[in-house]
Amino acid sequence: MAYELKQVVPWGRTLAEYTKMFSLSDKDLDLKILGVGDGPASFNAEMNTNGKKVISIDPLYQFTKDQIQERISQTKDIVLEQTQNNAANFIWKEFTNPTALVTARLAAMNRFLEDYEQGIREQRYINHELPKKTNFADKQFDLALCSHFLLLYSQLGETFHLETITEILRISNELRIFPIIDLNTQKTPLLNSVIAHFEKNFTVKIVTVEYEFQKGGNEMLVISTNK
Ligand SMILES: C[S@@+](CC[C@H](N)C(=O)[O-])C[C@H]1O[C@@H](n2cnc3c(N)ncnc32)[C@H](O)[C@@H]1O
Repeated sequence: MAYELKQVVPWGRTLAEYTKMFSLSDKDLDLKILGVGDGPASFNAEMNTNGKKVISIDPLYQFTKDQIQERISQTKDIVLEQTQNNAANFIWKEFTNPTALVTARLAAMNRFLEDYEQGIREQRYINHELPKKTNFADKQFDLALCSHFLLLYSQLGETFHLETITEILRISNELRIFPIIDLNTQKTPLLNSVIAHFEKNFTVKIVTVEYEFQKGGNEMLVISTNK
């Protein structure tokens, strides 16, 4: 199915959230990092301000700043309503209520938008739709991070996941995926088949992390090249 802006609901997280979701140490932050499906997260922008380099890939980056901004304005009230309707699926600690959550997400997305055009020029934001092969060299990155895309959207299917993860592991030594539950806060049905497929040639681990917003969503999947 073609990637269309009218079907996108932009939703972006921060560097602080990425740090917790992926248990990023100071050493990790200095690695060559690929952000997979970073969308309108402020992770790349904040890392760049801190003098660190992240390359983010996402088909969202085929659109202009104005188009993404417009789509954020169109969808923010829908997202607030959906979050209110599903409030029982989340732990309201860091974000005390749905309005506070949407305010934080809009701030992160504004941070992204401020950086977007410069980031495009600097090739930190690259328009790319997985599982299509990327132009990156084998093992160009030390670490790939995938927040709220793979495994969360289990409806993308097994073939999509296996092909996408295979391409990411071609270009990166390690991939961390968070969370490993789906939108209904159930363990992703695909998890076992993904683990079984990749543990033949890679080291695969489930690691508990400090971040938990979706109930039960405090684990990441780590797939790394055998040393
Ligand atoms: C829920 S958002 C998560 C954004 C960001 N990672 C975060 O956690 O704040 C999911 C992202 O996956 C991206 N995405 C969807 N299909 C994709 C594909 N085939 N290849 C790469 N990214 C994709 C979307 O455009 C969107 O930006």
